[in-house]
Amino acid sequence: MAIYPDLAGKVVLITGGASGIGEAIVRAFAQQDARVGFVDIDAAAGTALAAELTASGRTVHFQSLDLRDIPALEAGIEAIREALGPINVLVNNAAHDERHPAQDVTPDYFDDRIAVNLRHQFFASQAVLPDMKAAGGGAILCMSSISWMAGFGGMPIYTASKSAIIGMVRSLARDFGPDNIRVNAITPGWIVTQRQLDLWLTPEADAERNARQSLKRRLYPDDVARLALFLASEDASALTAQNYIADGGWV
Ligand SMILES: NC(=O)c1ccc[n+]([C@@H]2O[C@H](COP(=O)([O-])OP(=O)(O)OC[C@H]3O[C@@H](n4cnc5c(N)ncnc54)[C@H](O)[C@@H]3O)[C@@H](O)[C@H]2O)c1
Repeated sequence: MAIYPDLAGKVVLITGGASGIGEAIVRAFAQQDARVGFVDIDAAAGTALAAELTASGRTVHFQSLDLRDIPALEAGIEAIREALGPINVLVNNAAHDERHPAQDVTPDYFDDRIAVNLRHQFFASQAVLPDMKAAGGGAILCMSSISWMAGFGGMPIYTASKSAIIGMVRSLARDFGPDNIRVNAITPGWIVTQRQLDLWLTPEADAERNARQSLKRRLYPDDVARLALFLASEDASALTAQNYIADGGWV
């Protein structure tokens, strides 16, 4: 991976950093010598990752919490701020792609899917705003998904959340831009994580993925982490309010 010298020493907060794409992003920023704080509901995986990176000399702090609980999220962000300093970069990564047939969705389940896939991205962005303002700038990255662009079925509240993130990014970029805070979306295609392998990536689905992509290879979490590093770095200082699609040319 490229090294971005300006990321060294930056405080980077990543949600859902214990596994999958979030874990790759945690590792990538740690390699840049950033000071990495991450939150996740999976306490065991998060504790193990933080211990491994700390043992290898990186500065990493993990908080276990459920992002659907906004006061808990705000308290977790405050704990990371106390441990590492004011936050310079936020990566809103966490989500939960549980499938849900439309006819089975209750009002409570609808709210739960919005809470796990959309709401925390707004409140985490709100929580880091004072830090970034005081620092004279910052970068916020919000994870969307090509699922809504490609018209995937089977998870309408997930895709609704992921499309809403693009609208939210455009508004926040406008609101935060005068403070030199850049807000961009990253929209992954089908990224081969362990969870995808375990749950959804059957040989048939993998062949379909290959047929849909322009590039005939699997995409991995590091492909997304590389984009996150670039967008968080000063090399991307002119870029805001945009949606960067990393899908191997699917949509
Ligand atoms: N993997 C893909 O193919 C793909 C495709 C498009 C978009 N994305 C997006 O990329 C991001 C990461 O995806 P992924 O595949 O790594 O997901 P994942 O499910 O593998 O990992 C998500 C992480 O978030 C954590 N998390 C889930 N619910 C939480 C909660 N309530 N509170 C705190 N943490 C919670 C999980 O424990 C996990 O560590 C998501 O926003 C996802 O929508 C992924």
